[in-house]
Amino acid sequence: MLLGKNIVVTGAASGIGQRTAELAQSQGANVFSVDRNTPDNQVGHFIAADLGSAEGVEALVNALPNGIDALANVAGLSGTPGKVPTIAVNFLGLRALSLGLAPKMNQYGSVINVASIAGFGWRGNLERTRKAIDVEGFPDPAQFCADHNIQDETSYPDSKELLLMWTFRAAHDPVFKDRGIRVNAVSPGPVETPILLQFRDVLGDDRVNSDINRVGRAGTANDIAPSILFLASDGARWVNGTNIACDGGLEASVMSEAMNF
Ligand SMILES: NC(=O)c1ccc[n+]([C@@H]2O[C@H](COP(=O)([O-])OP(=O)(O)OC[C@H]3O[C@@H](n4cnc5c(N)ncnc54)[C@H](O)[C@@H]3O)[C@@H](O)[C@H]2O)c1
Repeated sequence: MLLGKNIVVTGAASGIGQRTAELAQSQGANVFSVDRNTPDNQVGHFIAADLGSAEGVEALVNALPNGIDALANVAGLSGTPGKVPTIAVNFLGLRALSLGLAPKMNQYGSVINVASIAGFGWRGNLERTRKAIDVEGFPDPAQFCADHNIQDETSYPDSKELLLMWTFRAAHDPVFKDRGIRVNAVSPGPVETPILLQFRDVLGDDRVNSDINRVGRAGTANDIAPSILFLASDGARWVNGTNIACDGGLEASVMSEAMNF
């Protein structure tokens, strides 16, 4: 179902993005790999880009050809580098890339945003999150954080809450909807990639181990890539504006605890 499709994968130098690019290529897709770091094993056509700046995103959009079928927004930061780069990459840059690339995408294309179980609490911060995603374009990330009370410690979950709410809204944005481009999210739980070590630093081993223990093991990039590529495929043609929890059941466990059932 991916044969001959032109698929852009960001974050392709490591972890989930790397595996997604490899799997897409092995299934016959024509892959454009994007990262700020050059991958050890380049998959398809590699384009170096900084997704945390308006200029970097614009240069990437210009470098990509017309006829893109799917954009897998996988690149992300853990929050360890601080709120400004985290919000810039995980939300502002991702959104700017998706909106900027839409005119170069084929009809019935697909945008897949890798969010996180960390964004689970978006419903509890509805007002703040809505005000933040109402800000258009690629605002100065430092000013954006100041305006919306985003702190270093919570910038990672905040960025994923923004991303989830924007995903639901984007599915009905005429930029995508008028051309049948679907916009969905995939939310992993803890996955054994380099970023997990940073989560352990930020959240502590106890919290990360507790999440892992709820579902028996941590995920691997191999567990996540097929869900991303399902959403890129024609098999998901009626799946739009949704979030697939790809976490071994972690969200179900967190939800039943939060809602007391
Ligand atoms: N691993 C987990 O436990 C986990 C859990 C939930 C969600 N996620 C999400 O999955 C996605 C992929 O994470 P991963 O686990 O593969 O981590 P990773 O650190 O292995 O890969 C992230 C990639 O993003 C790239 N990147 C970061 N900033 C960039 C920028 N400014 N421009 C271009 N590329 C940039 C990095 O160079 C790296 O190759 C992220 O969005 C992350 O938030 C991961």
